[in-house]
Amino acid sequence: MDHENRLISVSTRANVNIALLKYWGKRDEELKIPYQTSIALTLDNLYTDTTIMLDSSLSTDELFLNGSRAEHSDEVTFQKYMYLVRKLYPIKGFVRVESSNHVPTAAGLASSASAYASIALALNEVFNLKLDQKGLSVLARLGSGSAARSIYGGFSMWHHGDHHAESFATSIESDWDDLVFVVVLLSDKKKQVSSREAMKKSVELASYNHFVSTSRAMVEPMLEAIKTKNIHALGALMEKSSDLLHQTIRETGIDFYLPQTYKLLEELKTIKCDFPLFYTIDAGPNVKLLTTRDNVERVVGRLSAYKTLVCGIGKEAYVRS
Ligand code: PMV
Repeated sequence: MDHENRLISVSTRANVNIALLKYWGKRDEELKIPYQTSIALTLDNLYTDTTIMLDSSLSTDELFLNGSRAEHSDEVTFQKYMYLVRKLYPIKGFVRVESSNHVPTAAGLASSASAYASIALALNEVFNLKLDQKGLSVLARLGSGSAARSIYGGFSMWHHGDHHAESFATSIESDWDDLVFVVVLLSDKKKQVSSREAMKKSVELASYNHFVSTSRAMVEPMLEAIKTKNIHALGALMEKSSDLLHQTIRETGIDFYLPQTYKLLEELKTIKCDFPLFYTIDAGPNVKLLTTRDNVERVVGRLSAYKTLVCGIGKEAYVRS
């Protein structure tokens, strides 16, 4: 298609996803191909809006975040992504990307997942790539591994795959709609260590194999828990995956927990006794609590000392205009 005929500007939205079964560690750093399959739930209320403009006056790719030019390191990461995308897909010309995160950026709330899912979807439209959801998932993965899952609403599974085109997420069909995550915001500061850096150190550990084999063994039981809508089984597996992730990370000398994270986990032991409430923590200090809609008020009430954000199940990434 001629440059003149291409769409000039496209706006998209993608939601954050929270891994129930964590991904951690890449077998291919550049292509972001993981060692193991992961499972996630996409949330509403936390999302990224992106507008991509194809502008022939640009001499490089530009990234604007929340209204101003992105920090140099974030822009360079994006430019490397575009360089890779140009190598793998038939696209020409530079783009200007404006992303607004309705998520505390880089605080372990996976803003890079919603950001790169919204970017992939917008690139598909701007350059008329005609990718289906699997293809979009692959394109999003090149920006941030976990973004592969934010293309979908509800539950999704990112199949690790062994090659570029085989490493994508698919939707896990389910009508389980009363699950809720209560996100406890303990810090919205940008984390000191990137997940990329921490992953690199983790894969070098002798114990990393244990992380991979244990995670792999949890895939089928977790799919079964989702299928049978068993929140106790799902929650127990989710906590196990989260604990395993952070045990592995701590062995590298990095700890994403803050003292407030440890304190909250202690407090949860008393809150948890009379209804389903399960925690999970990503590469940051904030805690996400899984419960059902009819327990949300109790959870939020008992955590009144904290800043909380209630998220239901989010829908798939979509084109806004
Ligand atoms: O794709 P990244 O670099 O945002 O890594 C995400 C890793 C975790 O959030 C900790 C786990 C996951 O599966 O999302």
